[in-house]
Amino acid sequence: MNSKHSFLYNLIIALALLCLSFLSCVKKPEETKGIILGFSQIGAESAWRNCNTRSVQEAAAEAGIQLLFFNAEQKQENQIKAIRSFIAYQVDVIAFVPIVSDGWENVLVEAKAAEIPVLVCDREINIYSESLYAGYLGTDMLKEGRTAAEYLLKKYTDPETGKISADRRNPVKIVELQGTEGSAPAILRAEGFRETLAEHPGFEIIYSKSGDFLRSKGYELMCEILEGLQDFHVIYSHNDGMTLGAIDAMKERGIKPGEDIVIISIDAEQAAINALRRGEINCVVECNPKQGPDIMRLANSLARKEAIPRVIFMEEEVFTEWDDLSNIAPRGY
Ligand code: AHR
Repeated sequence: MNSKHSFLYNLIIALALLCLSFLSCVKKPEETKGIILGFSQIGAESAWRNCNTRSVQEAAAEAGIQLLFFNAEQKQENQIKAIRSFIAYQVDVIAFVPIVSDGWENVLVEAKAAEIPVLVCDREINIYSESLYAGYLGTDMLKEGRTAAEYLLKKYTDPETGKISADRRNPVKIVELQGTEGSAPAILRAEGFRETLAEHPGFEIIYSKSGDFLRSKGYELMCEILEGLQDFHVIYSHNDGMTLGAIDAMKERGIKPGEDIVIISIDAEQAAINALRRGEINCVVECNPKQGPDIMRLANSLARKEAIPRVIFMEEEVFTEWDDLSNIAPRGY
């Protein structure tokens, strides 16, 4: 962040704190009926993320929880500053979506010293002591990666013989579009996918690069790939935004997505489900963004000093080209 942006960000945080301290003169937190939840969101990189934000904001309003919401614009340092501002204001509970897995020790030690419980949301963290946060609520991203690979194994299995049609001499070549480097979804979706394919030498990941969960980068990467690599059969993309960008690039070059190239995507936003119905995507693994109500329930428990489970995974589905797709309810994102 350049110094102008950093100055602006600090100014916004300072102004927000000023407003809050003014409010606290009128009505002290102890006197309010609801609790105060500081929530640090990472940004607005995808339709999925926007739905996640809406879910948190609507659920807080519904639960009568006062929400201090900060958008970190994809910067970990902004998230750390926001969490420090929540500590300074002595909120009842802190919740945050860690943009990357590493680097949270110091600020979580500070929250613990201030006796403010912390809920990690959506993306898991990598930390030396689990005692630095109360629990995690989000999706099972390792499982999402495994599910994507299971679809792929089935796709290349002959239904008559039950045998996989790919082998070392005739491999299925896979292009992987990864999410944000160092983030839990990028790490775990890659790990789950590889783990499931590990015993099948007929599947080869020939390209793997981060598209940062952005549609624009999915498009750029696919242009780069199509200019360089001629021979691949499958795209495994860590989110729908990147998938849709890649599909745009393929169509521009007369390649039929879903037919010429098998496409597996994660998130299940409406646009991806529509593409699945059109036959342009073959498999969509759901990642459930509607975490707001559960976050509020857990925040209430934490504010009452109750213990919560260490890990809660959201329920998720998988949609494939072989399913009846006529009854999928509108996704809302
Ligand atoms: O952390 C969840 C991931 O972040 C979603 O798959 C992606 O779309 C988002 O931006």
